[in-house]
Amino acid sequence: MHILVLHGVNLNLFGRRDPAQYGTATLKDINHALDSLAKELNATTEQFQTNHEGSMVERIHQVLEQDVDAVVINAGAWTHYSYAIADALAVLSVPVVEVHMSNVHAREPFRHESVLARVCAGSVCGFGVMSYLLGFRAAYALASEARRSS
Ligand code: DQA
Repeated sequence: MHILVLHGVNLNLFGRRDPAQYGTATLKDINHALDSLAKELNATTEQFQTNHEGSMVERIHQVLEQDVDAVVINAGAWTHYSYAIADALAVLSVPVVEVHMSNVHAREPFRHESVLARVCAGSVCGFGVMSYLLGFRAAYALASEARRSS
C-alpha cells in the first residue's frame, strides 16, 4: 500500500506561520509523523510540497503512471479556488482525502468553501498534525477496501 501526501502553497512555512492557527510543527515534523504512521500500518508513503500550482497539477498527473493506492492532500489556499487542481484530482481513480491543519469552517468565509471537496472522498480539518494522521488512516482504509473489492 503506497500513499502519496501532497502539501500545497505556503505549507513549507508550517512552524513559522501563524502558530495560533497551525501550531508549531514544521513540515518536516509532519512528514516524519506520516512516515512513522505508514510504518505502523505496514504501508509506504512519500510527500511532495510545492508553491507552484502547475507543479502540483503535474505531480497529480504522475499518479496515473505510478503505483499509488491513495492520495492525501492539503492544498492550502488552492483548496478554495483552484479548479485546475480539482480537475487534475478528478482524473484519478484512487481515493483522495482532503486535510487541513486548522478548522477552516471556523475561520474567514472564503475558507468555508473547498472546490476540491467534490472530487475527494472526505475531509479532515481542525486537528493540527492529527488531521494529516487521521486523513492518512482514512486513505489507507479506503484503499484497503478498494483492494478487497477488486
Ligand atoms: C490550510 C487552510 C487554508 O485555508 C490555508 O490557506 C492554508 C492552510 C490548513 O492546513 O489549515 O494555507 O490548508
